[in-house]
Amino acid sequence: MSSIGLAVVGAGYWGPNLVRTAMSTPSLDLKWLCDLDLARAQGVIGPYANVRATASYDHVLADPDIAAVAIATPAATHSDLVRAALEAGKHVLVEKPLTDSVAEAEKLAVAAEESGLVLMCDHTYCYTPAVQRIRELIRGGEIGDVQFVDSVRINLGLVQPDVDVLWDLAPHDLSILDFVLPEDVVPVAVAAHAADPIGAGRSCLAYMSVWMSTGALAHVHVNWLSPTKIRTTVIGGTRRTIVWDDINPSARLAIHDRGVDRKPVGSLAPDERVEALISYRVGDVLVPALPEREPLRAVMTEFGSAISEGRAPLTDAWSGVRVLALLEAASRSVEEGGARIPVPPEVLGRGSAARVAASQN
Ligand SMILES: NC(=O)c1ccc[n+]([C@@H]2O[C@H](COP(=O)([O-])OP(=O)(O)OC[C@H]3O[C@@H](n4cnc5c(N)ncnc54)[C@H](O)[C@@H]3O)[C@@H](O)[C@H]2O)c1
Repeated sequence: MSSIGLAVVGAGYWGPNLVRTAMSTPSLDLKWLCDLDLARAQGVIGPYANVRATASYDHVLADPDIAAVAIATPAATHSDLVRAALEAGKHVLVEKPLTDSVAEAEKLAVAAEESGLVLMCDHTYCYTPAVQRIRELIRGGEIGDVQFVDSVRINLGLVQPDVDVLWDLAPHDLSILDFVLPEDVVPVAVAAHAADPIGAGRSCLAYMSVWMSTGALAHVHVNWLSPTKIRTTVIGGTRRTIVWDDINPSARLAIHDRGVDRKPVGSLAPDERVEALISYRVGDVLVPALPEREPLRAVMTEFGSAISEGRAPLTDAWSGVRVLALLEAASRSVEEGGARIPVPPEVLGRGSAARVAASQN
């Protein structure tokens, strides 16, 4: 089968990673790197003789040899660039966040479906061996019902010029949650607190709570100002608890047979109940062996496969819509002093109402 002609758009911090991984993906044939800053694009493609640089996106979209574009420009530009690509009949891989608004993202998701084109979000973490194993463990019933999620993503990060820390970092945690949680565990409300202690003009640290339809509670903590780097997610279930420490390569994932059980109390008097009710389980900790694999290569392979097979990719536009719905609710909550903001199923996009109903039966 002939390979898919591809253009990468954006040659800043992340774009060169798309270029490098596209070059090593057999199903893709990288032909163009486009950036408003032509010299930057030329600098990036220096070693790749078969790739051409351009500052003209129109030129790329007019090239009949280009079937797909991969967009790594700032979030505020995504909408226009994705829409133009779809209108030109190109498949699209777009960086997180899909756009800067749910309404716009939904329109793009529908437009892609109506024209039979792939619109995929680069939710990179969903393609890591650790997150794929977590999804298998949760969806396979290994940990029981999810009770809580605690996700911490803090380090000395680049203060972004265009987005606050929630919009920069939380898409990672929220896309992971969307990917690993069972289909019937659906967000129903969000609250967030954020602060800008250095006067950067936008929030540099934030705490976000997400209530789920099943009663589970997730918490996401993101921070650009922490001198220590922590990337840990704890997912507690009725049977087991998963601890994912992404910066600990020798034990990135640990499955704890530890937790708190609640026993039936029968006819005990109220003052006898508390002790009888709770029992602590202290069992083994299993550290599964995980393959080492660059997730962005898997993203590129999935993009190529979804196009060739004419199917939705693992992280399709609707996953991007669901992440945006939570980000918008979080921003509103911050503006309203941390208020709890309901997330109705209709803003989570297609199929969510049925999933909420299923979880509450
Ligand atoms: N998946 C990940 O883990 C990950 C990591 C980092 C960044 N990102 C995402 O990648 C995107 C880009 O981030 P970045 O840090 O590389 O930004 P950046 O500012 O470093 O680079 C953006 C580049 O896009 C170019 N550009 C802007 N508008 C353009 C247009 N209309 N046409 C062509 N080129 C244009 C700019 O000249 C610049 O070179 C963002 O959406 C960000 O969230 C994803």
